Amino acid sequence: IDISKLRTNTKGVITLDPGYKNTGSCESAITFLDGEKGILRYRGYDIGVIAEKVDFLEVAYLLIFGELPTKEQNDKFHEDIKAESNVDEDIKKILDAFPKSAHPMGVISSLTSALTAFNPSSVDVSSEEAMYKSVVRILGKMPVLVAWTMRKKQGQPLDYGDNSLGYVENLLKMMFSRPNSCYVQNPVLVDALDKLLILHADHEQNCSTSTVRIVGSSHAGLFASISAGISALWGPLHGGANQAVLEMLEAIQADGGDTKKYMAKAKDKNDPFRLMGFGHRVYKNFDPRAKIIKKAADQVLHDLGIQDPILEIAKGLEKEALEDPYFVDRKLYPNVDFYSGIIYRAMGIPTEMFTVMFAVGRLPGWIAQWREMRLRKEPIGRPRQVYIGATERDFIDVDNR
Ligand code: ACO
Repeated sequence: IDISKLRTNTKGVITLDPGYKNTGSCESAITFLDGEKGILRYRGYDIGVIAEKVDFLEVAYLLIFGELPTKEQNDKFHEDIKAESNVDEDIKKILDAFPKSAHPMGVISSLTSALTAFNPSSVDVSSEEAMYKSVVRILGKMPVLVAWTMRKKQGQPLDYGDNSLGYVENLLKMMFSRPNSCYVQNPVLVDALDKLLILHADHEQNCSTSTVRIVGSSHAGLFASISAGISALWGPLHGGANQAVLEMLEAIQADGGDTKKYMAKAKDKNDPFRLMGFGHRVYKNFDPRAKIIKKAADQVLHDLGIQDPILEIAKGLEKEALEDPYFVDRKLYPNVDFYSGIIYRAMGIPTEMFTVMFAVGRLPGWIAQWREMRLRKEPIGRPRQVYIGATERDFIDVDNR
């Protein structure tokens, strides 16, 4: 059946699927996931293998261009991204205009959108070369925007990075080096962050990715589309869950660590509280990323010698949920955000920056999906609705209402 003709052919029938629970919006060759079996593959490669064997920028290349890069392609990609890691000084004026209380996701979304004004050619999609330029531009500039947003919030001077470092190393340096102090990279943290970014890199047509595709389908530029994706990611039911998980664990700790009390709240249909970091629209068995992240969290805490009582609370919740019929029946398992916050916290990343780190990881996926959508010349995204409002009404003058 050609769904697009359904309405005309049937004189008015429309498919109604709130939340698009079983509606495909596009054909895509980027990411495969099977929620029942807990399978996630990037361009055909299993996520476990990818997280183990390649680094974040190679994954970005794979997602965006479809193949793992050769040595030459990889070197060129790195160099081209580095060459774009400068941000116009005037962007700092926009950053300065935000109050310190601004949530970093709002700041990053605004700065990403502002990049179009500073790079007007970024809307050019007339050739592969023009698109490539925008791709390396946003990949080069995003770590700078992220680090600057964090430092501004902390009242720290901005750091311009060091292009002799790797992508993730440079991001950490720009976030954490302090004036007049010697900054030493911790390879444990570099590895852990690289892995986290890879695990977040793409996840087919989730809320933020669908946003990027639908905004891009109007032929808005890449940076505007990504800015919209960042806003979509911000919400606590999506990327914002990593911040919400940590805040929930801290609240449980502050309340005496009684996990059973919070389990009961999560099950109480008159209580809006949900166990953050549990459940997933697609994974109804387990989230394969959560397994890898859980291992990484244990490793990071062990290597850094951190005993975090928050982790004990997290483990307690997970154990109880896995044995509780409410969670078992509804197939609610820990998702990728349940453990990522614990690693970010161990790294010294402020809680409000957690979702921003997710955005850095998701950036290659958004780019890949936007590029695929443009190359396939997809039509503008424009869902229909089933109207349930008033039928035709007579107008009443304001004096008679
Ligand atoms: N805690 C308690 N109950 C839950 C939870 C939860 N975390 N998640 C779902 N449920 C319950 C719902 O109340 C509903 O119960 P009912 O059938 O008795 O009405 C049932 O499970 C199904 O839930 P839905 O909301 O219909 O499932 P949906 O697929 O629409 O939502 C979502 C998925 C948004 C992820 C949801 O599980 C949730 O809110 N989780 C917490 C937030 C979170 O961790 N989000 C991150 C998702 S991963 C990501 O974006 C990277």
